[in-house]
Amino acid sequence: MADKLTTQSGQPWANNQHSLTAGERGPVLMQDYQLLEKLAHFDRERIPERVVHAKGAGAKGVFKLTHDMSQYTKADLFNGENKETPLAVRFSSVAGESGYPDTIRDVHGFSVKFYTEEGNYDIVGNNTPVFFINDPLKFPDFIHSQKRDPRTHKRDANMQFDFWAHSPESIHQVTYLMGDRGNPTSFRTMNGYGSHTYKWVNADGEQFWVKYHFISNQGVSNMSNELAAKLASEDTDYLQNEMFNAIEDGDYPSWTLSVQIIPYQEGLDYKYDIFDVTKTVSHKDYPLHEVGVMTLNANPDNYFEDVEEIAFSPANLVPGIEPSMDKLLQGRLFSYKDAARYRLGANYEQLKPNRPRNEVHNYARDGFMAQHQDGSVNYEPNSQGGPVEDPHASITGDMFQGMTGAYEPYDTDYYSAAGRLYNIMSEDEKQRLVETFKGNLGTIDSLENKQLMVQQMARADMDYGKRVAEAIGVNIDDIDI
Ligand code: HEM
Repeated sequence: MADKLTTQSGQPWANNQHSLTAGERGPVLMQDYQLLEKLAHFDRERIPERVVHAKGAGAKGVFKLTHDMSQYTKADLFNGENKETPLAVRFSSVAGESGYPDTIRDVHGFSVKFYTEEGNYDIVGNNTPVFFINDPLKFPDFIHSQKRDPRTHKRDANMQFDFWAHSPESIHQVTYLMGDRGNPTSFRTMNGYGSHTYKWVNADGEQFWVKYHFISNQGVSNMSNELAAKLASEDTDYLQNEMFNAIEDGDYPSWTLSVQIIPYQEGLDYKYDIFDVTKTVSHKDYPLHEVGVMTLNANPDNYFEDVEEIAFSPANLVPGIEPSMDKLLQGRLFSYKDAARYRLGANYEQLKPNRPRNEVHNYARDGFMAQHQDGSVNYEPNSQGGPVEDPHASITGDMFQGMTGAYEPYDTDYYSAAGRLYNIMSEDEKQRLVETFKGNLGTIDSLENKQLMVQQMARADMDYGKRVAEAIGVNIDDIDI
């Protein structure tokens, strides 16, 4: 038998089809509280969408450790044998709103929340190993250029390339974005990268730099511009539906998580700045070490609760895993939790998908929607047996010395990594890359911006610059390479 209808406060509800009126043809009565409550709740149904990565899909699953990493990190989830950690993921695209077609070319977000025994650990990455900029001060401007024009309210290649043309550090990631990875066939066929360098610390206090790689066990596959455009017009939620249906059918996608491990001092002395997220670290120098396998085996029970209300943050770290001095990462450590407080409220960590599986003990109290409070002591120091500090979670030190200042990037080689990426592409991939630039960079109004873009490409690799110049009708001899 179906449940009986109630109001939000649990009172039985007699009529959900007809408002109370003064007589058969009279006006609605103020005393129809059920009507007022229903409309008032409806009026508040929407919350702010994510300022970036608004369009996305989520799933739940498990991480199974296949290799004990205790030699490198004391992080509980990476220590032991065959340890299993429940998790939730959200895959997304960056620039569009929450109803935007998900097959429009974009970088794709790859967020994982591990519910470890020592609290939540999040890896908030993308399907590309690098990023467009390396200073958090530039992030709002970068995103403004990728979203809608303030006057016309349309997305505009003129704005996008205006920013990139004047931010040469972006050429590596722009090459990824305009290459095949900008259009994954499926969320299941894209790799995920932590992108930044993070620090791992073992139980003896030894420090290592690591870079995370989630390699798709479905293989990487991408779709053509034509297919992506067709799907965008036929099914705005194509990628979301594709993953949902696979999981619903029991075809569970999995990724093998591996890390590049770089000894502490070697990392500081490496030939490229490993704390600059526009650059990669060579796999020949530092090969992948397998850690475990992530499998997605359940869809959300409720999209709003499991996916819209989940809040990832690179600041969700656990003992044994620490940030590096990567400037962009440092900015992100603040921005995500701040965004969650605005988007979801001060007590967003009490919402179901954000609640850790272990118990929370601290002196934070109250605020909008606070739940699960008791009468225990709410200040420290105290003599009442309140929770005490855990030295196991102390962070390790790094030695810095220098004058404060707004410094240029430490490593100003913006181009060679993009050249290496271009050169590992097959001839077919190169052709598609050039065609894609023809279809977007080729349409912008500013000749100067076209030339600046070709200059970046030619500095990365002359063949890259020449071919794009020819495709978009720019004379490469007019450009100072
Ligand atoms: C989402 C800020 C760089 C990946 C977000 C959100 C903010 C943000 C405010 C929305 C969070 C929310 O409402 O819950 C920034 C800033 C950056 C930066 C300030 C640089 C200073 C990056 C980088 C990556 C990245 C380098 C990848 C390596 C993501 C992903 C999401 C996201 C995947 C979606 C998270 C989800 O699924 O809920 N970012 N971001 N962001 N960002 Fe960033």
